[in-house]
Amino acid sequence: MKANEKIQAFVLNQAMNYISGNPEKNLPKLLTWVENIWGDDFSAMSEVFHKILDDPENIWHQFVMELWQDIDNDVLKTTFSNFVVNASITGERKQEEYRAKYGCNVPWAILLDPTSACNLECIGCWAAGYCNHHSNQLNMSYETLDSIIRQGKELGTYFYLYSGGEPLVRKADIIRLCEAHSDCQFAAFTNGTLIDEAFADEMLRVKNFIPAISVEGFEADTDFRRGQGTFKKVERAIAILKARRLPFGISCCYTSKNVDVIGSEAYFDQMIDWGAKFCWFFTYMPVGQGAVPELMATDEQRAFMYHQIRKFRETKPLFTLDFWNDGEYAGGCIAGGRRYLHINANGDMEPCAFIHYSDSSVYEKTLLEALQSPLFMAYKEGQPFNNNHLRPCPLLDNPGALARMVERSGARSTDLQDPEDVFELSAKCKNAAENWAPVADGLWEASGHCAECLAKRQVA
Ligand SMILES: C[S@@+](CC[C@H](N)C(=O)[O-])C[C@H]1O[C@@H](n2cnc3c(N)ncnc32)[C@H](O)[C@@H]1O
Ligand code: SF4
Repeated sequence: MKANEKIQAFVLNQAMNYISGNPEKNLPKLLTWVENIWGDDFSAMSEVFHKILDDPENIWHQFVMELWQDIDNDVLKTTFSNFVVNASITGERKQEEYRAKYGCNVPWAILLDPTSACNLECIGCWAAGYCNHHSNQLNMSYETLDSIIRQGKELGTYFYLYSGGEPLVRKADIIRLCEAHSDCQFAAFTNGTLIDEAFADEMLRVKNFIPAISVEGFEADTDFRRGQGTFKKVERAIAILKARRLPFGISCCYTSKNVDVIGSEAYFDQMIDWGAKFCWFFTYMPVGQGAVPELMATDEQRAFMYHQIRKFRETKPLFTLDFWNDGEYAGGCIAGGRRYLHINANGDMEPCAFIHYSDSSVYEKTLLEALQSPLFMAYKEGQPFNNNHLRPCPLLDNPGALARMVERSGARSTDLQDPEDVFELSAKCKNAAENWAPVADGLWEASGHCAECLAKRQVA
């Protein structure tokens, strides 16, 4: 650790200790102190913080205060240091420097599949082509994962998420990586069924791992898609985490079948009752030959989720991320290394978890070389794929855009079971894209964005 980083860690530690004594009283004092030191540099943020801290009725006031109540203090400190300071402040500076130096995207986060193995067989899973029940189980070794993280840190990336397969099939290596990279924040999309007391004790020890447990609604919807008994196992996992004051979130895939439940107030309240601090929403994507296109949400259903998530942000203490519809806040598509990329269990470096095409393998190229490869550069040049950031995706919302990038870059399908032709995949999204376009344009204009700009640049 460099001298200035040591000082920063010390100050952060002291500040966090001070807050934890009495967050209600000490957080506003700390805010005044920070304002006095950073003055103008902090003014935009300071307005947001005042709104939250000065008003006990503000829903985010409750959310922030409850963090100190519900989460182990050392875990909270580590999360703040790794996620906020390392990944989002100092990391961001480094990423920016390398973006300028190399002229390519540099990601804030990397999604890694340590394994293709999975103990469940969820209907329409995008990873089904990789999973072990199809007899082609793959793993990235500890050394490979460690090397990716080392390379990422060189570029300023300090946030690593796991997917799969079921990442917790590789519990021991996941904990080992948390220890080896104690300055990084780790998270995992997990079906939750493998979380037990011993693993939770390890999480509490390393402090830098947060699970996002996949749930499809209440018991009937979850067990319909994830198999009988899964919901009860998830509730057991949640109880184990709560008993140790460990933070966790939920991941929801909304489909034509469960969207009414996922977007309901009762379900949001359920997640808050469980103690979840965040929820990630994904719309169903018809990726892979085993996909079930009937599960794709209609334009009305996608608009319903848009409205529900935004409404509950004002009233419910749950931090929500809507992977497609939040393109509005992220400036469109975040994949291709612009903010994140995906590496599957075969070591293929893909632009996104939902885009199973690649021209780079971790066994042949460095992370930086992959970011400079034709496919990732095509992403960089094409982004944003639409001026309406509520239509961010080159597959779901602008299907021709993905097909063109894959064709021109010479990328190949990475589906290990049944390679999928990009034109056939794009065709599955054509109707959804056409139906969503006028709805999204209406929502975009209604939220105050420029209507004329929409016509200027539409890649689809
Ligand atoms: C593929 S899973 C892998 C991690 C882990 N096994 C789990 O179930 O969370 C990651 C996330 O993708 C979601 N998912 C699976 N198939 C999907 C699809 N076709 N479209 C959108 N999301 C999907 C799952 O619900 C889960 O939240
Ligand atoms: S969604 Fe997750 S748990 Fe379900 S089959 Fe896919 S990888 Fe396995």
